[in-house]
Amino acid sequence: MIRLEAVTFAYEPAHPVLERLDFHLAEGERVVLNGANGAGKTTVLHLMVGLVRPGSGRIVAFGRERRSEADFVEVRAQAGLLFQDADDQLFCPTVAEDVAFGPLNQGKSRAEARAIVHETLAALGLEELEQRVTHKLSGGQRRLVSLAAVLAMRPRALLLDEPTNALDEATRERLLAILDSLPLAMVVVSHDGEVRERLATRQVRLVNGRLE
Ligand SMILES: Nc1ncnc2c1ncn2[C@@H]1O[C@H](COP(=O)(O)OP(=O)(O)OP(=O)(O)O)[C@@H](O)[C@H]1O
Ligand SMILES: [Mg+2]
Repeated sequence: MIRLEAVTFAYEPAHPVLERLDFHLAEGERVVLNGANGAGKTTVLHLMVGLVRPGSGRIVAFGRERRSEADFVEVRAQAGLLFQDADDQLFCPTVAEDVAFGPLNQGKSRAEARAIVHETLAALGLEELEQRVTHKLSGGQRRLVSLAAVLAMRPRALLLDEPTNALDEATRERLLAILDSLPLAMVVVSHDGEVRERLATRQVRLVNGRLE
């Protein structure tokens, strides 16, 4: 589904982050990606959806090499990214608007988007949050609403950046059960042992800019 080929990346020339990194996500796989703080895990996810562009190497997603912004707009419609920080994900006044944003952006009607919002929040057990003001939610609630915003776009693949971070035990359990029930390919950046045990079909570790 998504493949990085010999991808090199640096935010600043003096500090390379990734060095000829190869990675692939196949249909039905759930790859758990770990590595030290600052190793470049978030950067890998951002490269996959074109939020940053490689210095060299190729990104192939959903059957085609992706280079331009228009290419990555298509990729982002199919690969949903859950940001490490929910504040990067949620920017609307209310939960309903945040979850509707993606579907509306994909050209759904108001009525269709409303139906998707109801359905997605219900699937995550978040119906009660629908009319809440997003920035007044707790950190864990914002995380779950972020996931709802991602799932509302009906992606084919999920890219999850530390999804269980800051969640209490019960909420983490619920999130893991939900993720486990989804028939989607996933890349999950996580240090959480339980995420690995419950979800991973494969594990990779980012060290010195490469995967091992
Ligand atoms: N916008 C930026 N500008 C400059 N350097 C950056 C930027 N974002 C990240 N970096 C640097 O790039 C490297 C990789 O960062 P990245 O966020 O991908 O790491 P990570 O593995 O996700 O870390 P963490 O476990 O802390 O989330 C780090 O050294 C970081 O300081
Ligand atoms: Mg990170």
